[in-house]
Amino acid sequence: MSGETLSVRDNRTGQQAEIPIQSGTVRALDLRKFKQNADDFGLMTYDPGYTNTAACRSRITFIDGDKGILLYRGYPIEQLAEHYSYLEVVQLILDGELPSAEGKIRFAREIAAESDLPPAAYRIIEAFDSNAHSMGMLTSVVAALSTCYPEAVQIGKPENRRKQTIRLISKVPTIAAAGYRRLNGLPFVKPSRDLSFAGNFLHMMFKGSKTENRIHPALEHALDVLFTLHADHEQNCSTSAMRAIGSSRPDPYLAAAGAIAALAGPLHGGANEAVLDMLREIGDSSRIPEHIRKVKAGEGRLMGFGHRVYKNYDPRAKIIKRMAEEVFKVTGSNPLLDIAIELEQIALKDDYFVSRKLYPNVDFYSGLIYEAMGFPSVMFPVLFAVGRMAGWTAQWEELLADPEQKIARPRQIYEGYPTRDVPAHHRG
Ligand code: CMC
Repeated sequence: MSGETLSVRDNRTGQQAEIPIQSGTVRALDLRKFKQNADDFGLMTYDPGYTNTAACRSRITFIDGDKGILLYRGYPIEQLAEHYSYLEVVQLILDGELPSAEGKIRFAREIAAESDLPPAAYRIIEAFDSNAHSMGMLTSVVAALSTCYPEAVQIGKPENRRKQTIRLISKVPTIAAAGYRRLNGLPFVKPSRDLSFAGNFLHMMFKGSKTENRIHPALEHALDVLFTLHADHEQNCSTSAMRAIGSSRPDPYLAAAGAIAALAGPLHGGANEAVLDMLREIGDSSRIPEHIRKVKAGEGRLMGFGHRVYKNYDPRAKIIKRMAEEVFKVTGSNPLLDIAIELEQIALKDDYFVSRKLYPNVDFYSGLIYEAMGFPSVMFPVLFAVGRMAGWTAQWEELLADPEQKIARPRQIYEGYPTRDVPAHHRG
Protein backbone atom coordinates (compact mmCIF):
# COMPACT_ATOMS: atom_id res chain seq x y z
CA MET A 1 0.00 0.00 0.00
CA SER A 2 1.48 3.39 -0.97
CA GLY A 3 1.02 6.84 0.56
CA GLU A 4 0.39 7.59 4.23
CA THR A 5 -0.23 4.43 6.23
CA LEU A 6 0.04 3.10 9.74
CA SER A 7 1.68 -0.32 10.18
CA VAL A 8 -0.12 -2.31 12.84
CA ARG A 9 0.91 -5.62 14.35
CA ASP A 10 -1.45 -7.48 16.69
CA ASN A 11 0.85 -9.11 19.20
CA ARG A 12 -1.91 -11.49 20.32
CA THR A 13 -1.88 -13.23 16.94
CA GLY A 14 1.07 -11.86 14.99
CA GLN A 15 -1.35 -10.48 12.37
CA GLN A 16 0.00 -7.39 10.57
CA ALA A 17 -1.69 -4.86 8.34
CA GLU A 18 -1.20 -1.44 6.81
CA ILE A 19 -3.96 0.99 7.66
CA PRO A 20 -4.51 4.08 5.49
CA ILE A 21 -4.08 7.50 7.14
CA GLN A 22 -6.39 10.16 5.69
CA SER A 23 -6.65 13.75 6.94
CA GLY A 24 -4.51 12.77 9.93
CA THR A 25 -6.90 10.03 11.03
CA VAL A 26 -7.23 6.27 10.78
CA ARG A 27 -10.67 4.73 10.39
CA ALA A 28 -11.77 2.87 13.51
CA LEU A 29 -13.42 0.25 11.27
CA ASP A 30 -10.02 -0.63 9.78
CA LEU A 31 -9.13 -2.13 13.16
CA ARG A 32 -12.05 -4.57 13.00
CA LYS A 33 -9.99 -6.95 10.86
CA PHE A 34 -7.75 -7.71 13.86
CA LYS A 35 -9.36 -10.80 15.43
CA GLN A 36 -8.12 -13.41 17.86
CA ASN A 37 -10.21 -16.11 16.20
CA ALA A 38 -13.02 -16.43 13.65
CA ASP A 39 -15.72 -15.79 16.32
CA ASP A 40 -14.03 -12.64 17.62
CA PHE A 41 -15.95 -9.41 16.85
CA GLY A 42 -12.67 -7.65 16.03
CA LEU A 43 -10.70 -4.80 17.56
CA MET A 44 -12.54 -1.59 18.53
CA THR A 45 -11.29 1.76 19.82
CA TYR A 46 -12.19 2.93 23.34
CA ASP A 47 -12.59 6.70 23.75
CA PRO A 48 -14.88 7.84 26.57
CA GLY A 49 -15.73 11.51 26.10
CA TYR A 50 -14.50 11.29 22.46
CA THR A 51 -11.25 12.98 23.44
CA ASN A 52 -9.41 11.75 20.33
CA THR A 53 -12.13 10.74 17.89
CA ALA A 54 -13.24 12.78 14.87
CA ALA A 55 -16.91 11.98 14.23
CA CYS A 56 -17.44 14.13 11.14
CA ARG A 57 -15.85 16.34 8.52
CA SER A 58 -16.81 19.99 8.92
CA ARG A 59 -16.20 23.27 7.07
CA ILE A 60 -17.78 25.57 9.64
CA THR A 61 -15.48 26.28 12.60
CA PHE A 62 -11.76 25.80 13.16
CA ILE A 63 -10.09 25.91 16.57
CA ASP A 64 -6.37 25.77 17.31
CA GLY A 65 -6.55 25.22 21.04
CA ASP A 66 -2.81 25.53 21.64
CA LYS A 67 -2.56 28.89 19.92
CA GLY A 68 -5.97 30.21 21.09
CA ILE A 69 -7.33 30.60 17.53
CA LEU A 70 -11.03 30.44 16.60
CA LEU A 71 -12.21 30.84 12.99
CA TYR A 72 -15.75 30.78 11.58
CA ARG A 73 -15.56 29.74 7.90
CA GLY A 74 -11.93 30.89 7.94
CA TYR A 75 -12.46 34.35 9.46
CA PRO A 76 -10.86 35.10 12.88
CA ILE A 77 -13.43 35.60 15.64
CA GLU A 78 -11.79 38.91 16.64
CA GLN A 79 -12.42 40.42 13.17
CA LEU A 80 -15.99 39.15 12.98
CA ALA A 81 -16.81 40.44 16.46
CA GLU A 82 -15.40 43.86 15.64
CA HIS A 83 -16.75 44.42 12.12
CA TYR A 84 -19.92 42.35 11.67
CA SER A 85 -23.30 42.03 13.33
CA TYR A 86 -24.52 38.74 14.76
CA LEU A 87 -27.00 38.21 11.92
CA GLU A 88 -24.23 38.66 9.32
CA VAL A 89 -22.18 36.09 11.22
CA VAL A 90 -25.21 33.77 11.27
CA GLN A 91 -25.40 34.03 7.46
CA LEU A 92 -21.68 33.29 7.25
CA ILE A 93 -22.08 30.23 9.43
CA LEU A 94 -25.16 28.94 7.61
CA ASP A 95 -24.19 29.75 4.02
CA GLY A 96 -20.40 29.78 4.07
CA GLU A 97 -19.92 33.43 3.01
CA LEU A 98 -20.58 36.88 4.46
CA PRO A 99 -23.71 38.44 2.95
CA SER A 100 -23.95 41.27 0.43
CA ALA A 101 -25.61 44.52 1.59
CA GLU A 102 -28.96 43.39 0.07
CA GLY A 103 -28.55 39.84 1.39
CA LYS A 104 -28.02 41.22 4.88
CA ILE A 105 -31.26 43.24 4.75
CA ARG A 106 -33.23 40.35 3.25
CA PHE A 107 -32.04 37.94 5.93
CA ALA A 108 -32.79 40.38 8.78
CA ARG A 109 -36.35 40.70 7.39
CA GLU A 110 -36.73 36.93 7.15
CA ILE A 111 -35.62 36.53 10.77
CA ALA A 112 -37.90 39.35 12.00
CA ALA A 113 -40.89 37.90 10.12
CA GLU A 114 -40.61 34.62 12.03
CA SER A 115 -39.91 36.02 15.49
CA ASP A 116 -43.37 35.67 17.03
CA LEU A 117 -44.45 32.38 18.62
CA PRO A 118 -47.44 30.21 17.84
CA PRO A 119 -50.22 30.60 20.49
CA ALA A 120 -49.53 27.10 21.86
CA ALA A 121 -45.98 28.15 22.78
CA TYR A 122 -47.23 31.13 24.82
CA ARG A 123 -49.77 28.85 26.55
CA ILE A 124 -47.03 26.39 27.49
CA ILE A 125 -44.86 29.19 28.88
CA GLU A 126 -47.84 30.44 30.94
CA ALA A 127 -48.18 26.97 32.45
CA PHE A 128 -44.69 26.85 34.02
CA ASP A 129 -44.30 27.44 37.75
CA SER A 130 -42.79 30.78 38.70
CA ASN A 131 -39.64 29.05 40.00
CA ALA A 132 -39.01 26.96 36.85
CA HIS A 133 -35.42 26.98 35.53
CA SER A 134 -35.04 28.87 32.27
CA MET A 135 -33.19 26.04 30.50
CA GLY A 136 -35.91 23.49 31.31
CA MET A 137 -38.46 25.94 29.93
CA LEU A 138 -36.45 26.62 26.78
CA THR A 139 -35.87 22.91 26.12
CA SER A 140 -39.58 22.14 26.53
CA VAL A 141 -40.87 24.99 24.38
CA VAL A 142 -38.40 24.35 21.55
CA ALA A 143 -39.45 20.66 21.59
CA ALA A 144 -43.10 21.77 21.55
CA LEU A 145 -42.50 23.77 18.34
CA SER A 146 -42.24 20.35 16.70
CA THR A 147 -45.98 19.93 17.36
CA CYS A 148 -46.75 23.39 15.95
CA TYR A 149 -44.90 22.80 12.67
CA PRO A 150 -45.56 19.17 11.70
CA GLU A 151 -44.18 19.78 8.19
CA ALA A 152 -40.75 20.24 9.80
CA VAL A 153 -40.19 16.50 9.73
CA GLN A 154 -39.80 16.62 5.95
CA ILE A 155 -36.10 17.17 6.28
CA GLY A 156 -35.33 15.88 2.77
CA LYS A 157 -36.57 19.20 1.31
CA PRO A 158 -33.88 21.93 1.42
CA GLU A 159 -36.38 24.83 1.40
CA ASN A 160 -38.26 23.22 4.30
CA ARG A 161 -35.02 22.78 6.28
CA ARG A 162 -34.17 26.44 5.66
CA LYS A 163 -37.61 27.54 6.86
CA GLN A 164 -37.26 25.66 10.15
CA THR A 165 -33.69 26.91 10.60
CA ILE A 166 -34.87 30.51 10.29
CA ARG A 167 -37.70 29.81 12.72
CA LEU A 168 -35.37 28.28 15.29
CA ILE A 169 -32.85 31.15 15.19
CA SER A 170 -35.63 33.72 15.22
CA LYS A 171 -37.95 32.23 17.86
CA VAL A 172 -35.40 31.23 20.50
CA PRO A 173 -34.94 34.82 21.79
CA THR A 174 -38.73 35.24 21.93
CA ILE A 175 -39.11 32.04 23.97
CA ALA A 176 -36.25 33.11 26.23
CA ALA A 177 -37.75 36.55 26.85
CA ALA A 178 -41.29 35.21 27.34
CA GLY A 179 -39.91 32.68 29.84
CA TYR A 180 -38.15 35.46 31.76
CA ARG A 181 -41.35 37.53 31.87
CA ARG A 182 -43.37 34.51 33.03
CA LEU A 183 -40.94 33.98 35.93
CA ASN A 184 -41.23 37.64 36.88
CA GLY A 185 -45.01 37.83 36.57
CA LEU A 186 -44.79 40.33 33.69
CA PRO A 187 -47.00 40.35 30.60
CA PHE A 188 -45.40 39.03 27.40
CA VAL A 189 -43.95 41.62 25.01
CA LYS A 190 -44.39 40.79 21.32
CA PRO A 191 -41.31 41.02 19.10
CA SER A 192 -40.68 44.26 17.20
CA ARG A 193 -39.65 44.02 13.54
CA ASP A 194 -38.01 47.46 13.59
CA LEU A 195 -35.24 46.60 16.02
CA SER A 196 -31.95 44.73 15.60
CA PHE A 197 -31.77 41.09 16.69
CA ALA A 198 -30.17 42.00 20.04
CA GLY A 199 -32.24 45.19 20.39
CA ASN A 200 -35.47 43.26 19.90
CA PHE A 201 -34.38 40.72 22.49
CA LEU A 202 -33.68 43.44 25.09
CA HIS A 203 -37.02 45.05 24.20
CA MET A 204 -38.93 41.76 24.74
CA MET A 205 -37.05 41.16 28.00
CA PHE A 206 -37.14 44.55 29.70
CA LYS A 207 -39.89 46.67 28.11
CA GLY A 208 -41.98 48.29 30.82
CA SER A 209 -40.00 46.66 33.66
CA LYS A 210 -37.80 48.21 36.30
CA THR A 211 -34.76 47.41 34.15
CA GLU A 212 -36.06 49.11 30.98
CA ASN A 213 -32.99 51.36 31.07
CA ARG A 214 -31.01 48.25 30.08
CA ILE A 215 -32.21 48.84 26.50
CA HIS A 216 -29.16 51.02 25.76
CA PRO A 217 -27.24 51.08 22.42
CA ALA A 218 -23.95 50.15 24.11
CA LEU A 219 -25.59 47.15 25.80
CA GLU A 220 -27.37 46.19 22.58
CA HIS A 221 -23.99 46.16 20.82
CA ALA A 222 -22.36 44.16 23.63
CA LEU A 223 -25.13 41.56 23.52
CA ASP A 224 -24.82 41.32 19.74
CA VAL A 225 -21.08 40.63 20.10
CA LEU A 226 -21.76 38.05 22.83
CA PHE A 227 -24.14 36.23 20.47
CA THR A 228 -21.39 36.24 17.81
CA LEU A 229 -18.86 34.82 20.27
CA HIS A 230 -21.23 31.95 21.08
CA ALA A 231 -22.46 31.28 17.53
CA ASP A 232 -20.52 28.05 16.96
CA HIS A 233 -17.71 26.08 18.54
CA GLU A 234 -17.32 22.91 16.46
CA GLN A 235 -18.03 19.48 18.03
CA ASN A 236 -18.75 20.39 21.67
CA CYS A 237 -21.21 18.47 23.87
CA SER A 238 -24.40 20.24 22.72
CA THR A 239 -23.43 20.29 19.03
CA SER A 240 -22.58 16.61 19.24
CA ALA A 241 -26.03 16.08 20.79
CA MET A 242 -27.62 18.00 17.90
CA ARG A 243 -25.76 15.81 15.41
CA ALA A 244 -26.42 12.55 17.31
CA ILE A 245 -30.15 13.24 17.58
CA GLY A 246 -30.26 14.62 14.03
CA SER A 247 -28.67 11.41 12.77
CA SER A 248 -31.89 9.50 13.49
CA ARG A 249 -33.69 12.06 11.25
CA PRO A 250 -36.27 13.70 13.56
CA ASP A 251 -37.37 17.27 12.86
CA PRO A 252 -34.84 19.96 13.91
CA TYR A 253 -36.93 21.23 16.86
CA LEU A 254 -36.51 17.89 18.64
CA ALA A 255 -32.79 17.79 17.84
CA ALA A 256 -32.35 21.41 18.99
CA ALA A 257 -34.23 20.68 22.23
CA GLY A 258 -31.70 17.89 22.90
CA ALA A 259 -28.83 20.28 22.16
CA ILE A 260 -30.26 22.84 24.61
CA ALA A 261 -30.58 20.13 27.26
CA ALA A 262 -26.92 19.17 26.71
CA LEU A 263 -25.91 22.83 27.03
CA ALA A 264 -27.67 23.20 30.39
CA GLY A 265 -25.09 21.33 32.47
CA PRO A 266 -22.56 23.23 34.62
CA LEU A 267 -19.62 21.78 32.69
CA HIS A 268 -20.91 23.32 29.44
CA GLY A 269 -23.29 26.28 28.97
CA GLY A 270 -24.35 26.24 32.62
CA ALA A 271 -20.82 27.26 33.61
CA ASN A 272 -21.49 31.01 33.26
CA GLU A 273 -24.23 30.73 35.89
CA ALA A 274 -21.92 28.61 38.07
CA VAL A 275 -19.16 31.26 37.81
CA LEU A 276 -21.44 33.89 39.33
CA ASP A 277 -22.51 31.49 42.09
CA MET A 278 -18.82 30.83 42.78
CA LEU A 279 -17.87 34.54 42.83
CA ARG A 280 -20.77 35.29 45.19
CA GLU A 281 -19.73 32.42 47.46
CA ILE A 282 -16.15 33.76 47.57
CA GLY A 283 -17.70 37.15 48.32
CA ASP A 284 -14.46 38.97 49.15
CA SER A 285 -10.94 39.01 47.67
CA SER A 286 -9.50 37.95 51.03
CA ARG A 287 -11.23 34.57 50.61
CA ILE A 288 -9.73 33.78 47.18
CA PRO A 289 -6.68 31.83 48.49
CA GLU A 290 -9.00 29.59 50.52
CA HIS A 291 -11.14 28.93 47.43
CA ILE A 292 -8.06 28.10 45.32
CA ARG A 293 -6.88 25.73 48.06
CA LYS A 294 -10.22 23.89 47.97
CA VAL A 295 -10.15 23.58 44.18
CA LYS A 296 -6.61 22.20 44.30
CA ALA A 297 -7.69 19.74 46.98
CA GLY A 298 -10.35 18.43 44.58
CA GLU A 299 -13.29 20.07 46.38
CA GLY A 300 -14.94 21.43 43.25
CA ARG A 301 -13.64 23.14 40.14
CA LEU A 302 -12.68 26.69 39.33
CA MET A 303 -15.72 27.46 37.21
CA GLY A 304 -15.05 29.34 33.99
CA PHE A 305 -11.55 27.86 33.79
CA GLY A 306 -10.27 25.06 31.60
CA HIS A 307 -11.43 23.74 28.28
CA ARG A 308 -11.23 20.44 26.42
CA VAL A 309 -9.75 22.12 23.35
CA TYR A 310 -8.15 25.41 24.47
CA LYS A 311 -4.85 24.93 26.23
CA ASN A 312 -4.28 28.67 26.00
CA TYR A 313 -6.40 31.76 26.75
CA ASP A 314 -9.81 31.29 25.11
CA PRO A 315 -9.90 34.05 22.42
CA ARG A 316 -13.57 34.67 23.24
CA ALA A 317 -12.71 35.34 26.89
CA LYS A 318 -10.18 38.01 25.81
CA ILE A 319 -12.84 39.85 23.80
CA ILE A 320 -15.40 39.57 26.61
CA LYS A 321 -12.95 40.86 29.20
CA ARG A 322 -12.34 43.97 27.07
CA MET A 323 -16.05 44.40 26.44
CA ALA A 324 -16.83 44.22 30.14
CA GLU A 325 -15.17 47.61 30.55
CA GLU A 326 -17.47 49.15 27.87
CA VAL A 327 -20.55 47.68 29.52
CA PHE A 328 -19.58 48.78 33.01
CA LYS A 329 -19.14 52.37 31.76
CA VAL A 330 -22.92 52.32 31.18
CA THR A 331 -24.13 50.15 34.02
CA GLY A 332 -21.59 50.94 36.73
CA SER A 333 -19.09 48.32 37.84
CA ASN A 334 -20.00 44.92 39.21
CA PRO A 335 -18.17 44.39 42.52
CA LEU A 336 -17.72 40.74 41.58
CA LEU A 337 -15.50 41.87 38.66
CA ASP A 338 -12.70 42.78 41.06
CA ILE A 339 -12.89 39.34 42.64
CA ALA A 340 -12.89 37.72 39.16
CA ILE A 341 -9.83 39.70 38.01
CA GLU A 342 -7.89 38.87 41.17
CA LEU A 343 -8.96 35.22 41.02
CA GLU A 344 -7.73 35.01 37.43
CA GLN A 345 -4.40 36.64 38.30
CA ILE A 346 -3.79 34.26 41.20
CA ALA A 347 -4.82 31.17 39.22
CA LEU A 348 -2.66 32.07 36.22
CA LYS A 349 0.41 32.14 38.49
CA ASP A 350 -0.42 28.94 40.36
CA ASP A 351 1.41 25.81 39.25
CA TYR A 352 -1.77 23.66 39.53
CA PHE A 353 -3.49 25.69 36.80
CA VAL A 354 -0.33 26.49 34.79
CA SER A 355 0.80 22.85 34.56
CA ARG A 356 -2.69 21.73 33.46
CA LYS A 357 -2.97 24.64 30.99
CA LEU A 358 -6.17 25.89 32.62
CA TYR A 359 -7.05 29.40 31.39
CA PRO A 360 -10.27 31.46 31.61
CA ASN A 361 -12.85 30.28 29.08
CA VAL A 362 -15.77 32.12 27.47
CA ASP A 363 -17.89 31.71 30.60
CA PHE A 364 -15.52 33.34 33.09
CA TYR A 365 -16.45 36.96 32.28
CA SER A 366 -19.68 36.62 30.27
CA GLY A 367 -21.87 36.17 33.37
CA LEU A 368 -20.58 39.41 34.87
CA ILE A 369 -21.66 41.31 31.75
CA TYR A 370 -25.03 39.59 31.63
CA GLU A 371 -25.62 40.42 35.28
CA ALA A 372 -24.69 44.06 34.73
CA MET A 373 -27.21 44.16 31.87
CA GLY A 374 -29.94 43.02 34.25
CA PHE A 375 -30.19 39.33 33.33
CA PRO A 376 -30.71 37.00 36.31
CA SER A 377 -28.15 34.19 36.46
CA VAL A 378 -30.68 31.47 35.48
CA MET A 379 -30.89 33.25 32.10
CA PHE A 380 -27.15 33.02 31.35
CA PRO A 381 -27.18 29.57 29.72
CA VAL A 382 -30.29 30.66 27.79
CA LEU A 383 -28.29 33.55 26.31
CA PHE A 384 -25.63 31.04 25.29
CA ALA A 385 -28.36 28.97 23.57
CA VAL A 386 -29.74 31.99 21.70
CA GLY A 387 -26.33 32.63 20.11
CA ARG A 388 -25.50 28.94 19.55
CA MET A 389 -28.69 28.13 17.63
CA ALA A 390 -26.90 29.32 14.47
CA GLY A 391 -24.12 26.78 14.94
CA TRP A 392 -26.46 23.93 15.89
CA THR A 393 -28.61 24.40 12.79
CA ALA A 394 -25.60 24.82 10.48
CA GLN A 395 -24.03 21.65 11.88
CA TRP A 396 -27.36 19.80 11.48
CA GLU A 397 -27.54 20.92 7.84
CA GLU A 398 -23.95 19.76 7.28
CA LEU A 399 -24.73 16.40 8.86
CA LEU A 400 -27.71 15.81 6.56
CA ALA A 401 -25.68 16.72 3.46
CA ASP A 402 -22.79 14.40 4.36
CA PRO A 403 -23.05 11.03 2.57
CA GLU A 404 -20.55 9.49 5.02
CA GLN A 405 -22.80 10.09 8.03
CA LYS A 406 -24.86 7.30 9.57
CA ILE A 407 -27.09 7.07 12.63
CA ALA A 408 -24.90 7.74 15.70
CA ARG A 409 -24.43 4.46 17.46
CA PRO A 410 -21.26 3.98 19.54
CA ARG A 411 -20.06 0.57 20.71
CA GLN A 412 -19.46 -0.45 24.32
CA ILE A 413 -17.22 -2.72 26.32
CA TYR A 414 -19.67 -5.03 28.04
CA GLU A 415 -18.63 -5.76 31.61
CA GLY A 416 -21.88 -7.17 32.97
CA TYR A 417 -22.93 -10.75 33.66
CA PRO A 418 -22.49 -13.41 30.99
CA THR A 419 -25.70 -15.31 30.11
CA ARG A 420 -27.42 -16.64 33.26
CA ASP A 421 -30.80 -18.25 34.07
CA VAL A 422 -33.44 -16.44 36.14
CA PRO A 423 -33.83 -17.92 39.70
CA ALA A 424 -35.77 -21.21 39.79
CA HIS A 425 -38.41 -19.90 42.26
CA HIS A 426 -39.49 -17.25 39.71
CA ARG A 427 -40.12 -19.74 36.92
CA GLY A 428 -43.59 -20.94 35.92
N1 CMC B 1 -10.79 23.65 37.95
C1 CMC B 1 -9.88 22.85 38.52
N2 CMC B 1 -9.28 21.81 37.90
C2 CMC B 1 -9.62 21.60 36.64
C3 CMC B 1 -10.56 22.40 35.96
C4 CMC B 1 -11.14 23.47 36.66
N3 CMC B 1 -12.02 24.28 36.07
N4 CMC B 1 -10.71 21.94 34.70
C5 CMC B 1 -9.91 20.89 34.58
N5 CMC B 1 -9.24 20.68 35.75
C6 CMC B 1 -8.22 19.68 36.02
C7 CMC B 1 -8.84 18.30 36.21
O1 CMC B 1 -9.15 18.07 37.57
C8 CMC B 1 -7.74 17.41 35.69
O2 CMC B 1 -6.74 17.34 36.68
P1 CMC B 1 -5.90 15.95 36.91
O3 CMC B 1 -5.15 15.75 35.62
O4 CMC B 1 -5.05 16.21 38.09
O5 CMC B 1 -6.96 14.89 37.13
C9 CMC B 1 -7.15 18.20 34.52
O6 CMC B 1 -7.41 19.58 34.84
C10 CMC B 1 -7.78 17.86 33.18
O7 CMC B 1 -9.19 18.02 33.32
P2 CMC B 1 -10.27 17.16 32.54
O8 CMC B 1 -11.50 17.05 33.38
O9 CMC B 1 -9.66 15.89 32.05
O10 CMC B 1 -10.53 18.09 31.29
P3 CMC B 1 -11.74 17.98 30.30
O11 CMC B 1 -11.23 18.39 28.98
O12 CMC B 1 -12.43 16.66 30.39
O13 CMC B 1 -12.78 19.08 30.87
C11 CMC B 1 -13.98 21.09 31.19
C12 CMC B 1 -13.01 20.32 30.27
C13 CMC B 1 -14.37 22.39 30.51
C14 CMC B 1 -15.25 20.25 31.42
C15 CMC B 1 -13.25 21.38 32.54
O14 CMC B 1 -12.10 22.17 32.32
C16 CMC B 1 -14.18 22.04 33.56
O15 CMC B 1 -14.91 21.33 34.26
N6 CMC B 1 -14.15 23.41 33.66
C17 CMC B 1 -15.06 24.11 34.54
C18 CMC B 1 -16.43 24.22 33.89
C19 CMC B 1 -16.42 25.25 32.79
O16 CMC B 1 -15.93 26.36 32.94
N7 CMC B 1 -17.02 24.87 31.65
C20 CMC B 1 -17.18 25.76 30.50
C21 CMC B 1 -16.38 25.31 29.34
S1 CMC B 1 -16.29 26.58 28.06
C22 CMC B 1 -17.91 26.75 27.50
C23 CMC B 1 -18.34 25.60 26.72
O17 CMC B 1 -18.02 25.53 25.52
O18 CMC B 1 -19.02 24.72 27.27
